[in-house]
Amino acid sequence: MREVKCESWRCFLKIETGKSFLDALSGHVSENVPFWFMRQAGRYLPEYRELRAKKGSFLGLAMDPIAACEVTMQPVRRFGMDAAIIFSDILVVPYALGQKLEFVEGEGPKLDPVKSSQEIMALGYKEFETKLSPVYEALRKTKMALEVEGFKKTALIGFAGAPWTVASYMVEGGSSREFTTVKKMAYADPKIFSGLIDLLSEATASYLIRQVEAGAEALQIFDSWAGVLDEHLFHQYVILPTREIVKTVREACPHVPIIGFPRGAGNHYSTYMRETGVTALGLDTSVPVRWAAKTLQPVCPVQGNLDPIALLTGGDSMIRATERILSELSRGPFVFNLGHGIHKETPIEHVEALVQFIKNWRV
Ligand code: CP3
Repeated sequence: MREVKCESWRCFLKIETGKSFLDALSGHVSENVPFWFMRQAGRYLPEYRELRAKKGSFLGLAMDPIAACEVTMQPVRRFGMDAAIIFSDILVVPYALGQKLEFVEGEGPKLDPVKSSQEIMALGYKEFETKLSPVYEALRKTKMALEVEGFKKTALIGFAGAPWTVASYMVEGGSSREFTTVKKMAYADPKIFSGLIDLLSEATASYLIRQVEAGAEALQIFDSWAGVLDEHLFHQYVILPTREIVKTVREACPHVPIIGFPRGAGNHYSTYMRETGVTALGLDTSVPVRWAAKTLQPVCPVQGNLDPIALLTGGDSMIRATERILSELSRGPFVFNLGHGIHKETPIEHVEALVQFIKNWRV
């Protein structure tokens, strides 16, 4: 293995790892395009639904290292992705900081909302390590399972939610349409809200570093709701905390690539790339691929961005959409992915057809 230090500090990475996903993230273009899918482990897989039913609850599944490892491996065994993403959730961080969390069937996550500075101050690190230790154990087990089952070229991804997205769930108490409560807090009580964001930045950086120690070879930061903020709040609560996390993680683990996924960031994508220092950019479905090839890809590797609904639909339209993405982006450093998580009704055969098409594509 060689190590290069090129002009951009982004490229201070090991090269030629033999894992095409990691190689793409350090700027390499190979004949085959590496791929994985956001939310690749989950309800569209019958084997997931079966284990999920046995475990009773989502958290029960995610916090059982043997089960979480099993679920992480399921899509890799079926489709041979170039990366496995550890089965967990972005909301385990507030859970580990002491916020009550439940996943209600059909309704999504429910948290006891934090609305005041007292409620934020009550959060802390007392049980942080203990509560997250099953995730680290699941990573260690998965790293071993990939080896033992012969997926030696499949990389293991660790992840966390970005502070803004996680804070939105913490303050709203669950999923939201308008983000009214959390935005009001950000506008009206910047001191209180910044306190929450700072706590999350610190906790998230430490969580990501611990994931690397447990075997994660790359990291993704999900900022699923980055697209709902105005320019000022985007700078304050997306750019600055992400930059802080990237800096802290990179100091501890300089060779581990970090993919930033600021979903819906639109015109902010270039600024996000320049100012956060992420190694690679996850493109959401709405990012124009030709623009990304011209503007983003010369500076950093990109990942994306097939509409999950095109995959749900399948057939010719899915293949045409995939072809458009591959023909624009596969000549530069690129990881094929969806533009958001896979839809739970997605037929397995559509995933199989997509995977076949990507595997047959030659750059
Ligand atoms: O990608 C993977 O395969 C790894 C697992 C993973 C999950 N959640 C498992 C999960 C990842 C990477 C996440 C990230 C996540 N979680 C995000 C960011 C990505 C995105 O989709 O925008 C967000 C916003 C969450 C929060 C969350 N978790 C919501 C809103 C929900 C309910 C909605 C839904 O999809 O059901 C969850 C639950 C959840 N997380 C499920 C899974 C497989 C479904 C729960 C179940 O099986 O009962």
